[in-house]
Amino acid sequence: MRFTVVTILPELIAPALAAGVVGRAITGGLLTLATVNPRDFTSDRHRTVDDTPYGGGPGMVMKCEPLVAAIEHACGDAPARRILLTPGGAPLDQARVRALAQHEHLVLVCGRFEGVDERVSETSIDEEISIGDFVLSGGEVAAVALIDAVSRLVPGVLGEPASVEDESFGAGLLEYPQYTRPLEFRGRAVPEILTQGNHGAIAKWRRRESLRRTARRRPDLWTRHVPAPGDAKLPTAPELDVASRTHVALVHHPVFDRNNQVVTSALTNFDVHDIARSAQTYGLAGYFVVTPVAAQRDKAEHIARLWQEEGGEHRAQALAQVRAVASVADAVAALDPKPLVVATTASEERFANLPRDTPASLVAHLQDQPGRPLLILFGTGWGMADHLIPEPERVLLPIRAHTSWNHLSVRSAVAILLDRLFGRRT
Ligand SMILES: C[S@@+](CC[C@H](N)C(=O)[O-])C[C@H]1O[C@@H](n2cnc3c(N)ncnc32)[C@H](O)[C@@H]1O
Repeated sequence: MRFTVVTILPELIAPALAAGVVGRAITGGLLTLATVNPRDFTSDRHRTVDDTPYGGGPGMVMKCEPLVAAIEHACGDAPARRILLTPGGAPLDQARVRALAQHEHLVLVCGRFEGVDERVSETSIDEEISIGDFVLSGGEVAAVALIDAVSRLVPGVLGEPASVEDESFGAGLLEYPQYTRPLEFRGRAVPEILTQGNHGAIAKWRRRESLRRTARRRPDLWTRHVPAPGDAKLPTAPELDVASRTHVALVHHPVFDRNNQVVTSALTNFDVHDIARSAQTYGLAGYFVVTPVAAQRDKAEHIARLWQEEGGEHRAQALAQVRAVASVADAVAALDPKPLVVATTASEERFANLPRDTPASLVAHLQDQPGRPLLILFGTGWGMADHLIPEPERVLLPIRAHTSWNHLSVRSAVAILLDRLFGRRT
């Protein structure tokens, strides 16, 4: 397989690939590595490859003519896949690496400065690839990373082809933990199962660890993972695990009214009923109705009972989750161990000193605290009087759409956030 790197800093490429399995494959002739310098395709004394951007702005942009001439030279007459390394490209993953390994010749074009004139891409590039959501000072390190990953899949480059199948991302999962001698290190022993020679049991353990690690560390991979037949008894989706420890609380006091006065809002039948059904749908552990008014708490429980008696079996199950308590502190005290309390708000200004979470980052945060309950507070009225509610440790970012209208009902907000937290994405 051939790699040709188009770069104004060719001295960065060969040394980075000179050692290890890739270096051996180059020396052994399995891989061919070459560079082409766009400066060799300039006509001025300074060998200029960049110019100021049209429209102004900082930095310089790589010019079309020398770069396109260099790409054309790099391709020659045989077919080649022309790739621009850029942070704006499609993220490189193992599936893409596998597809790239099918090509005979990859031409890898490295940007420098502020990037490359768009018309280079439009006229002379087959695909744009990014190696991650961060900005490098040039495409060379990205090209080296891509060459390394693709080379490992070229037959003969790795000693043992089977190791490629087993690795992280081979089946859309992270790899299981690996151990070698010594048997014990700083008080930590190698898992016993790996030392007993039962290969069936070892394979099962590795599969389970691979699933568990992916579920905990990479929710993005996990939601896309299609379970194999034997996987059914392995870990549940992280969302379901966190949902089963989650309680919602509908707070009627202390909340603001339209004049920014702290008040106690009145209970509504639909809030009791609809939020209980949402909580049940997403597999939550419970639903607190929070009001300091004893008559309102009685009313909440009365409503829940009525729906249980008259609403059929499904509704009864959902409404059985409703519990009325006098304060947020009482809801917290009802949970053991101590829950992580998370506020919700429609306004960026409320709970302004707390760390802010997206639904995905909140689920990931809870995954790192196995068994800890989550209590999510929703305000009625004009939202919770944050200065009077000290319990929350974090806050979920407000729900936003592409309009400036920002007045969802609390029932809708609960449903939307529960779906973003725990809904299935596939
Ligand atoms: C300083 S960067 C230019 C960044 C550009 N102004 C932007 O914001 O997208 C210079 C060059 O480094 C390379 N580069 C930087 N980050 C990269 C990444 N994450 N993946 C692939 N190439 C990258 C590209 O070739 C890019 O043209």
